[in-house]
Amino acid sequence: MDSKIKGVYTLPSNKDKFELLNKKNEEALLGGGEARIAAQHKKGKLTARERIHFLLDEGTFQEIDKFVMHRAKDFGLDKEHYLGDGVVTGYGEINGRLVYVYSQDFTIFGGSLSETHAEKICKIMDMAMKNGAPVIGLNDSGGARIQEGVVSLGGYADIFYRNTLASGVVPQISAIMGPCAGGAVYSPAITDFILMVENTSYMFVTGPNVVKTVTAENVTAEELGGASTHSTKSGVTHFACANELECIQNIKKLLSYMPQNCEDTAPVYAYDLKDDESRKVLDTIIPDNPNHPYDIRDVVDGICDEGSFLEVHKNYADNIVVGFARLAGRSIGIVGNQPQSLAGVLDNHASMKAARFVRTCDSFNVPLLVLVDVPGFLPGTDQEWNGIITNGAKLLYAFSEATVPRITVITRKAYGGAYDVMNSKHIGADLNFAWPTAEIAVMGPKGAAEIIFKREIAEAEDPASKLQEKIDDYTSKFANPYRAAHRGFIDEVIIPSETREKLIRGFKMLENKVDKLPRKKHGNIPL
Ligand code: HXC
Repeated sequence: MDSKIKGVYTLPSNKDKFELLNKKNEEALLGGGEARIAAQHKKGKLTARERIHFLLDEGTFQEIDKFVMHRAKDFGLDKEHYLGDGVVTGYGEINGRLVYVYSQDFTIFGGSLSETHAEKICKIMDMAMKNGAPVIGLNDSGGARIQEGVVSLGGYADIFYRNTLASGVVPQISAIMGPCAGGAVYSPAITDFILMVENTSYMFVTGPNVVKTVTAENVTAEELGGASTHSTKSGVTHFACANELECIQNIKKLLSYMPQNCEDTAPVYAYDLKDDESRKVLDTIIPDNPNHPYDIRDVVDGICDEGSFLEVHKNYADNIVVGFARLAGRSIGIVGNQPQSLAGVLDNHASMKAARFVRTCDSFNVPLLVLVDVPGFLPGTDQEWNGIITNGAKLLYAFSEATVPRITVITRKAYGGAYDVMNSKHIGADLNFAWPTAEIAVMGPKGAAEIIFKREIAEAEDPASKLQEKIDDYTSKFANPYRAAHRGFIDEVIIPSETREKLIRGFKMLENKVDKLPRKKHGNIPL
């Protein structure tokens, strides 16, 4: 009912006030307007709100700062305002678990980051830290709001700073669903996982035009920084997804293996007991010829709960396989040499990939299973000049400082320094198993025989058969798991089909493991 004061002013009724709120809410939902939403759809992209709709459990999204607007005045911005200022922020649930989310709205100033846009993101990051829940960033942005200048850059830095402080405290996941260029890339880069969408997203520090000016290279945005480039060449992204819905599904799946924060443990899921028959497959995987390849993922599938393996960094450094899986419903992180790619050697990229994954698991209390079949480190100038010493040390360091339960299974080769690095007993592994097919030694029998019997072989009447005799001798003495088992470096030699049961028992035994590193400010991992 209208209230009149002396017949001059008409004060709005409560009904009018409610209607104003409804109008504002409707306006906010439209972002930059219908034409821009249509343009977004035409590019094969969802809007910021549609992405949140598919990400969160139905009806759980609680938006924050819906009516925030920028405060800028230059270059006509004083006349152009949109509610929300190009980013939708809030909290909700995924499979009943709390998450914080921000989703950049490309229909408003191209999703560019203003001072207030940054403040909205920082606000939910601060809430996530206080309340111990993951932060998911859905990125689709033209970068710094050009009209705002340095306050936009300051806003980015405020986010980077929070990303760093939140690292290892709550899981942070970044999905790139459109442009992400310039310094803006450094927020996703600090987070735990990056997912990209094929053909509609890209990430680079400098775009194709600048590249052409500086290096005279002609390259498209997709070639320079698209999903397939970053999932195969640079390793910047952990997942390349065929479309946005697949990307969103992957985020949910990824979170199912992670705890809410570093004080928590990952949720436990129901599982089907694998029958003995399906585990018997493990007895047939290793070829009789030790130089023949096999797929370490077959070992993973034979051991873990059916269909539970989520491979991370699948197309990058495929001589090592990393990912999450479940054993008896419990989340584990797996690192395994891949004999079917480069014979499973450790090289620069494989070492960095695995080291990062080990640290992610250790940050979030995900126990580690390490499957070893490694002939050593890859030789060559390319490797040495690109820092295999420093990069191999990253993996050694990452395992050594990991305090989560750690179990190793040597399926076949464990040679040289790589034996030490791959979660050996000596660097703190809790349980070390070997299959009877394991070969644990300083190097392969041929190389060893050629060095230690060099003179004897050279002086022999028939050097070739002498070499073979020495190789056979070395093989029978060292190309097996028993020397290591005699020393207790291997806790038990087991038949492959027993592995699942041994691991379930082992991880159960380690459930309450408490291991503390010496007091320090922080370690100095060789970066
Ligand atoms: C303000 C921007 C913007 C920006 C895009 N828009 N980027 N507004 N600041 N950075 C606006 C456009 O004016 C346009 O407004 C709308 O968003 C959509 O942009 P289009 O160009 O029409 O879209 P599209 O053709 O898809 O191209 C998208 C784009 C392009 C490739 C992102 O807009 C672009 O190159 N933008 C500039 C990118 C950039 O140089 N950013 C600064 C990077 S440096 P209307 O009104 O027409 O809808 C940086 C530093 C960060 O980010 C440093 C952190 C440390």
